[in-house]
Amino acid sequence: MDRSCQGLDAVHTIVSRSVERRVISSIYEKKGSYDRSKKENPAHNNTIGTVSWHSLAQIAEACEKNGFFQVINHGVPVELTDRLKQVGRKFFDLTKDEKLVYAGKPVIGSEGYGSRMVLDDTEPKFWREFVELHTLPLSERHYNYWPQQPAEFRETVEKYTAALLDLAQRLLAVISESLGLKPSYLKEALGEPHQNIVFQCYPPCPEPGKTLGLPAHSDVVAITILMQEGDGLEVAAENDTWELVPNHPNAFVVNLADQIEIITNGRYKSANHRAIVNSDRTRRSYVTFYHPAKDQKIFPAPELVDEKVGPVYRELFYIEYLQALAAERGGKRLVQSFAIDNPLVS
Ligand code: OGA
Ligand code: NI
Repeated sequence: MDRSCQGLDAVHTIVSRSVERRVISSIYEKKGSYDRSKKENPAHNNTIGTVSWHSLAQIAEACEKNGFFQVINHGVPVELTDRLKQVGRKFFDLTKDEKLVYAGKPVIGSEGYGSRMVLDDTEPKFWREFVELHTLPLSERHYNYWPQQPAEFRETVEKYTAALLDLAQRLLAVISESLGLKPSYLKEALGEPHQNIVFQCYPPCPEPGKTLGLPAHSDVVAITILMQEGDGLEVAAENDTWELVPNHPNAFVVNLADQIEIITNGRYKSANHRAIVNSDRTRRSYVTFYHPAKDQKIFPAPELVDEKVGPVYRELFYIEYLQALAAERGGKRLVQSFAIDNPLVS
């Protein structure tokens, strides 16, 4: 299934997919006068830093602060990342009808192509086109949703996501070590890897202050690895401000997601983040999600639970989390609904 914000978006998609298909050809639809920029505090100037691959202290610091960091020297060849961006760009450049061949069904966890370009008067909406594909386990590759244009799309996505699986597992090992756990801890705690990739395309918006490419959300998965073309990703910071994640050529943005927050008993964060749009250029991002299997039991690592305080989160099967996501209607972070009502936890 799902995403991360996939889940969130998929929920949204249930009611909106028909609208998405209808509005894709118009420049945009304006339904009201909501203006997000008027409601916000000025953005922070701090930016999400690049950590050294080998510095466990730097990784621990970034994970404790907000779970976001960028990595370079990650070992994924630039030829491969360039090719992925190229097939993504070529797909989004197809005509509306060519893209709609791969349109997803209006159900949670659906795959394929979708778009949404509506300005509403009540809340920020999804100003984006996307293609979502399940890549692992192999039995969940539904090739009917995989674009056949450009011709090299499928092979490129298969090579890229294989490299990103390896990268995710190397990251899980260093993150485990940064917690004082054995390197294989998080990989084992997450069980059989499930992976999906979302190609995001945020076209220019004539009134960027009135929408969002993706509204604020935390990713429900374990770990997300994002490659961006252009600035636009922001992470929630103090006092309702937003911190920009600067576009760094050849870096991957890594963010820890809800399942890691639970396993680390809240020590490492799964921060809210969002994508803003701009009026003059298209921004794209390529987002690879690493999930536990649906029947995987997720629980705080005993080594990270303070004996006196006890666990912060309860044990759950990942499927329960996905079900809670489907039932969710915004508000507090979803992970909070799995918190234990523990008077000793501040
Ligand atoms: C996501 C996400 C941000 C971006 O897909 O979950 O947060 O910049 N994307 O595309
Ligand atoms: Ni996200």
